Amino acid sequence: MSWVRELARPDIAALKAYEHAAWRPQLERLHANELPWSPLGGDPAGGLNRYPEPQPRALINRLAALYEVTPESVLVGRGSDEAIDLICRAFCRAGHDEVLVCPPTFGMYSVAARIQGAQVIEVPLRSEHGFALDETAVLEHCGPSTKVVFLCSPNNPTGNLLDAQAMRRIARARDARSLVVVDEAYIEFADRASLSAALREQPNLAVLRTLSKAHGLAGARCGALLADPQVIALLRKIIPPYAVPRLTLEAALAALEPAALEDTRALLTTLRQERARMLRELPGLAGVIRVWPSDANFLLAEFTDPSTALERAAAAGLLVRDARSYPGLARALRISIGTPRQNSRLLEAWS
Ligand SMILES: Cc1ncc(COP(=O)(O)O)c(C=O)c1O
Repeated sequence: MSWVRELARPDIAALKAYEHAAWRPQLERLHANELPWSPLGGDPAGGLNRYPEPQPRALINRLAALYEVTPESVLVGRGSDEAIDLICRAFCRAGHDEVLVCPPTFGMYSVAARIQGAQVIEVPLRSEHGFALDETAVLEHCGPSTKVVFLCSPNNPTGNLLDAQAMRRIARARDARSLVVVDEAYIEFADRASLSAALREQPNLAVLRTLSKAHGLAGARCGALLADPQVIALLRKIIPPYAVPRLTLEAALAALEPAALEDTRALLTTLRQERARMLRELPGLAGVIRVWPSDANFLLAEFTDPSTALERAAAAGLLVRDARSYPGLARALRISIGTPRQNSRLLEAWS
């Protein structure tokens, strides 16, 4: 039996997927109970009156080229949030299985795990070592029921990259026994290659990517899971049939045109310059205790009086993220890097 069938929930491995309306664009559609006209105007043969292509081939091919994997290794859905949810649902039996996370980190991993009824095992990042991954402790805490390990690099909310070799060693040590999911939502803001090149040699490794961050499409909801084709085939069975809306598809394809990618690269350069400026200037402000270096599009900073800092930002019309509920970050705020003007206004509000 394949390792994915062994690792997956047996009922999901055995599930017969819903048969969505066939995608045969050369034929006129009288098979999906759609309205034959488009009240909003436009081409009724390909407008919003029609269900979209279930896993749109053109988008999958573009994403596969961008992320340098095969199209069979790509699942596309409503943001990487959807893939996180699908992974927990496909691999974890409620009341039996576990998901391992490394706090402080992105909250959706444990929320998705708990919604599924999986137990959440927490192995904190080493805060005294720049929030480094505790490889030994992660492996010590993995047991026979640990189906999924989520690692976030660069990590939200701390901004640091995790050691790539350590992540690969964890995947190797958990070979076929856990799916090790590396969330690279912010990797475009870092000077580090994606781990996706390692997927071929390490099939239980998976990588999450998104168009929400560097590509500026958070409102379109489009993210991808890159993984062994068997993992992708399993998740395709449980993803809702028309998960990528037509409007999202159009926006995503436009954002992946060569000229748009060129523009994105230029904006990323500006964003990195602004991140460097904020990292230089924030620590000089009274009330800022420290700012952690970041490989993402945000900075985590510690304040003597975070409540006042939040109030002063709001009085200047700016909202920053209260990070105090994260374990070990009792006086921290997370600041997304804005436009140069917004960043200057924030610095002024805190001067
Ligand atoms: C680490 C991380 N992963 C995933 C997501 C979700 O991204 P998406 O918009 O693709 O669902 C976020 C959103 O903030 C994030 O910080």
